[in-house]
Amino acid sequence: MVEDKDLNLLKVEKVYEPKEECKKTAHFQDYETLYKSSLQNREAFWDKIAKELCWFKPWEKVLEWNYPYAKWFVGGKTNICYNCLDRNLERGLRNKVAIIYVNEDEEEKKLTYGELNELVGRFASALKSLGIKKGDRVVLYMPNTPEAAIAMLACARIGAIHSVVFAGFSTEALRMRIEDAKPKAVITATYTKRRGKKIDLLSTAREAIKGLDYVEHLIVWDRDKNQTLREGEKEFYNLIKENKEISPAEEMDAEDPLFILYTSGTTGKPKGVLHTTGGYMVGTYITTKWDFNLQDDDIYWCTADVGWITGHSYIVYGPLLNGATTLMYEGAPNYPDPGIWWRIVEKYRVNIFYTAPTAIRLFMRYGEEYPKKYDLSSLRVLGSVGEPINPEAWEWYYRVIGGQKCPIVDTWWQTETGMHLILTWPHMKAKPGYAGKPFFTVEVDVVDKNGNPVPPNHVGYLVIKNPWPAMLRTVWGNPERYEKYWNIIPGYYCPEDLASKDEEGYIMILGRADDVLNVAGHRIGTAEVESALVAHPDVAEAAVIGKPDEIKGQRIKAFVVLRVGVQPSQELTESIKQTVRKTLGPIAVPDEIEYVEKLPKTRSGKIMRRLLRAKELGLQVGDLSTLED
Ligand code: PRX
Repeated sequence: MVEDKDLNLLKVEKVYEPKEECKKTAHFQDYETLYKSSLQNREAFWDKIAKELCWFKPWEKVLEWNYPYAKWFVGGKTNICYNCLDRNLERGLRNKVAIIYVNEDEEEKKLTYGELNELVGRFASALKSLGIKKGDRVVLYMPNTPEAAIAMLACARIGAIHSVVFAGFSTEALRMRIEDAKPKAVITATYTKRRGKKIDLLSTAREAIKGLDYVEHLIVWDRDKNQTLREGEKEFYNLIKENKEISPAEEMDAEDPLFILYTSGTTGKPKGVLHTTGGYMVGTYITTKWDFNLQDDDIYWCTADVGWITGHSYIVYGPLLNGATTLMYEGAPNYPDPGIWWRIVEKYRVNIFYTAPTAIRLFMRYGEEYPKKYDLSSLRVLGSVGEPINPEAWEWYYRVIGGQKCPIVDTWWQTETGMHLILTWPHMKAKPGYAGKPFFTVEVDVVDKNGNPVPPNHVGYLVIKNPWPAMLRTVWGNPERYEKYWNIIPGYYCPEDLASKDEEGYIMILGRADDVLNVAGHRIGTAEVESALVAHPDVAEAAVIGKPDEIKGQRIKAFVVLRVGVQPSQELTESIKQTVRKTLGPIAVPDEIEYVEKLPKTRSGKIMRRLLRAKELGLQVGDLSTLED
């Protein structure tokens, strides 16, 4: 746990007042006034917002709250795909560009709302023709391309529950997620392209579904049209060609499941976070619009991947619900050179740019000359997500990318929250180092283990005190795990982040309170990496900690106890890393492996990672009374 005294190191005095232009493009005026009134009548606030979207049948009640279970827009019927497409066609946006796709080679593809509607509607018909129905699961293992969005939207259109697995995950990680969700179909592509290389997805998907009878179909987007598909496999665009009918949007109950997305926790097994239709739709719609001051003709670019929640909420659903033009990029941020992203901003005149601090720190290392080569004057709002943005990165982002005219919208949220919950709006005073203030109707606090508020500028647990529309509804197949979120600190939702709050109510996020790492904005469970390490035949035991890293925020260090008789060597280290790469994927590979004789444990046998970390980083060791030896 971060000690109070460490806070002084983080405390930032600098404050940036909002610019007049930001106030002009804002969708609400004074935060404090609206926030106060939203607390007085939470349901009225959400009722009004939800009415901006299309419902086949109105709700009878905005919220039904049976702690810790919430139902939003009770009795309401809608369809999120209908709201992303049909509603926008009805509003006259048929010829507006919905998605701009760009890759590392700067090849582009643009789809208008009309074209996207056609592709999604036909692909939805194709899914139905394969026997996929409302409530069936469909796993997507796709590159960050419009085809992923088409598949997601088609599932939502017919009421199938999608579960997107990040294309960087390995066969075993994919299989684990497939086994948990038991999908009727898996949708993949032949490859994804990164750093000039084609990364094979098809072989991984084929391997991952081997012997799983419930997976009836493997749908493959054959990107180079050169694959011989096997029995039971169908080609993505052939399906679209063969199915000419645009499938009507299924009437979904507000509480019908929309998607499952797996995320890391403290155990070795990832959690399938379940989001439902109505609340998620309303939450992502309004946060995309308000939090970025979104305007009708904006070009909006979120650099995340559809494999993560940021891609779901803020590449696909949020922007499309608003009829915006969303840019999707496939590739690395620094390939073929560190200017690629800024060339894209210049070429497409991007107005809103949303990325992660780890990317900013990477660009800082390359220096100002890359962004300086390009005209970034179209940028109006800059966003940050995934980890705390350190003040140095904040200042650089503000000065070099934003030319000191763009506000930086830091957004704190999680896979579980579905939507932004704490942020600094464009027309609000910014304090670099602080994420900002809570979204309307949401009350947050920083408390001790017993739920008592800690004084201002002290460290404690962040808690959310009341339900919000896009909150997770359960953990797929594990309702007890869902209840745990609300039981850690009884009465509140506990995201397991450490935080502190200043006198003005600005929240600073200090990192995770549990054994979860944040490596380059990716959430990785120490237990997942440890079980991947012990999968190596020479490894007897392993413990993993996060070490501060200048670019990635944290990097992984593993302490490994070898089996009796095995000697450490460079080759062994490589082979252990290879095992983790194969079991989880490249993002989880430890940067450092240290061989030790034994690991510090409590008397009940739990590894004391805290002790390893303290020793590694030269911190105070703290209470050792439970140490076994
Ligand atoms: O620790 C917080 C950190 O990322 C965690 C959530 O990870 P994930 O579910 O993968 O979602 C990432 C994208 C929303 C949080 O518990 N985190 C996310 N955003 C921020 C953050 N930490 C500090 N500041 C943020 N803006």
